Amino acid sequence: MLMSGVGGWAREQRGSDGHCMGVCLFEKYNKDGETLYATVGYMTVYNYYVYPDKTRPRVSQMLILPPFQGEGHGAQLLEAVHRFYCSLPKVQDITAEDPSESYVKLRDYVLVKFCQGLPSFAVDKLHLGFSADMAKEAQDQLKINKVTYEAATILCLGSVNRFVF
Ligand SMILES: CC(C)(COP(=O)(O)OP(=O)(O)OC[C@H]1O[C@@H](n2cnc3c(N)ncnc32)[C@H](O)[C@@H]1OP(=O)(O)O)[C@@H](O)C(=O)NCCC(=O)NCCS
Repeated sequence: MLMSGVGGWAREQRGSDGHCMGVCLFEKYNKDGETLYATVGYMTVYNYYVYPDKTRPRVSQMLILPPFQGEGHGAQLLEAVHRFYCSLPKVQDITAEDPSESYVKLRDYVLVKFCQGLPSFAVDKLHLGFSADMAKEAQDQLKINKVTYEAATILCLGSVNRFVF
C-alpha cells in the first residue's frame, strides 16, 4: 500500500480464533541525507468463520496517531483494507468490533464513496429510495451488510453537500 510519501506493511498470522491481519502505516522521509520512517497508524482485522465456507473480517482496532489525524490517512487506510477484502471470494461481509463514533463517521465516508461507484446508486435512482438492486450490489460487490448499506443509501442522498470526493 503506498500513499504519496506514506507506506505500509501487512502481516497475516494464525491465532487460536483464526486469522488476524495487522496493517501498519508509516511515513518515509529524508533527514540530513538519511532515510527515516515514522509510524502513522495501524489497523488490526480478525477473520471469523461463517457457516459453511465463508469468513467475516472484523476491524478490531484502528489508530491514526494524533499528528497525522484529519489528513485523510484513515480514509485511505480503510479504503485499501476494504478493497483487499472485497477481492476475496470467501469473504461474506466486513464488520467492525464495537466501533467508536469517529470510526463510524470514517466508515460512512468510505462506504458512501464506494456506493456512489455502483450503478444502482446513480444519482437519478437515489431519489426513488432504497431498492433490492442496491442491496444486492452493496452486498455482492462491497461486502457490506444490510444495516450498513441502508445507512449508506441515506447518506448518499445527503452526501453531495457533506463529502468532497
Ligand atoms: C478515527 C481515526 C482512525 C480517523 O483517522 P483520520 O486519519 O483522522 O481520518 P481522515 O482524515 O481520513 O478522515 C476522517 C474525517 O474526515 C471525514 N472525511 C474524510 N475525507 C473527507 C472528504 N474528502 N470530505 C469530507 N469529509 C471527509 C470523515 O468523515 C471524518 O470527519 P472529520 O474530520 O470531520 O471528523 C483517527 O481519528 C483515530 O485514530 N482516532 C482515535 C482512535 C479511534 O477512535 N479509532 C477507531 C476505533 S478503533
